[in-house]
Amino acid sequence: MLLVRIRNNGNKIPAVGLGTWQSGEENDTVYRAVKTAIADGYRHIDTAMMYGNEAEVGRGIRDGLKESNLKREDIFVTTKLATIHARPSLVPRAFQDSLDKLDIGYIDLYMMHWPVAMNPATGQLVPLRPDGTRDIDEELKGKFEDTWAAMEKLLDTGKVKNIGVANFSVPNLERLLKTAKVVPAVNQVELHPYLPQTKLLEYCASKGIHNSAYSPLGSTQSTLFQDKTLAEIAKAHGKSIAQILISWGVTRTSVLPKSVNPERIAANIDTVNLTEDEIQRINDISKSTTQRFVRPNWGIPVFDEDFE
Ligand SMILES: NC(=O)c1ccc[n+]([C@@H]2O[C@H](COP(=O)([O-])OP(=O)(O)OC[C@H]3O[C@@H](n4cnc5c(N)ncnc54)[C@H](OP(=O)(O)O)[C@@H]3O)[C@@H](O)[C@H]2O)c1
Repeated sequence: MLLVRIRNNGNKIPAVGLGTWQSGEENDTVYRAVKTAIADGYRHIDTAMMYGNEAEVGRGIRDGLKESNLKREDIFVTTKLATIHARPSLVPRAFQDSLDKLDIGYIDLYMMHWPVAMNPATGQLVPLRPDGTRDIDEELKGKFEDTWAAMEKLLDTGKVKNIGVANFSVPNLERLLKTAKVVPAVNQVELHPYLPQTKLLEYCASKGIHNSAYSPLGSTQSTLFQDKTLAEIAKAHGKSIAQILISWGVTRTSVLPKSVNPERIAANIDTVNLTEDEIQRINDISKSTTQRFVRPNWGIPVFDEDFE
């Protein structure tokens, strides 16, 4: 598995990892997916408290490593701080809970899942107000800088190797970097040919922040599988559109395709070398089609386009 260097701290991250959002714990679904992925050569597993599957992901990692004769340090594991735990006083407990559920000794990358804090008092994972809008944590007053400072302290425990963010736009990163003592190792964002994130990637590169691509296949509502350019390039290589999407993705970032299907898990890591011309053709797709597939209605500006 190709490893990519995180420029601002020198650590490495695998180029392709298994996503596990909407990979349930029932019937051993996510457990099997993780074990299959490790046997197939995946060396990065991405989960989150909000996915509700850390315990089974952890069991899949432990058994997958054992069955493939691998050591803990052979795999990179990411999990994320939930929005209901973004209040600084809640961060150490939330981190320890994730680590206990995963039960893998340490976390390779712990991320702030969103630049958003939600009311922790309701007992709900995504608390809503009576009018249906999302129940933002009024006490934190949107100060994700304070959440980040609490995450920085986790590095002193030695139980986490890298800290990062997800869903951070350029304006929010600029704000964060004004007070951050540690520059985020990674910013995980939605990225595929309909949302190539070119400006954000340039900004992150200038700060040594590595980008990881989530929803690289367009998630569950994808229209990328009907794209003519991608279909042509897939045909030329005798590969699927998904494989072309992941092959293009690794030319820009590390990539996190999700699947619970054994054939697709195996296929998704089987990438091809695209020609410069093919990469350029895929880069150009967003000149005519752009689409963000994952857009929760937080009620506050989050994505780059929210600030325009
Ligand atoms: N930080 C964040 O806020 C955030 C947000 C979204 C996602 N993520 C991470 O990124 C990961 C990937 O994103 P995602 O789950 O939204 O979407 P994705 O990986 O773009 O797409 C997943 C969908 O594509 C299907 N699929 C997988 N391989 C395929 C193939 N070869 N051909 C056709 N269909 C295929 C999957 O179904 P099957 O499972 O049935 O194969 C599933 O329906 C997540 O799982 C999560 O780990 C992070």
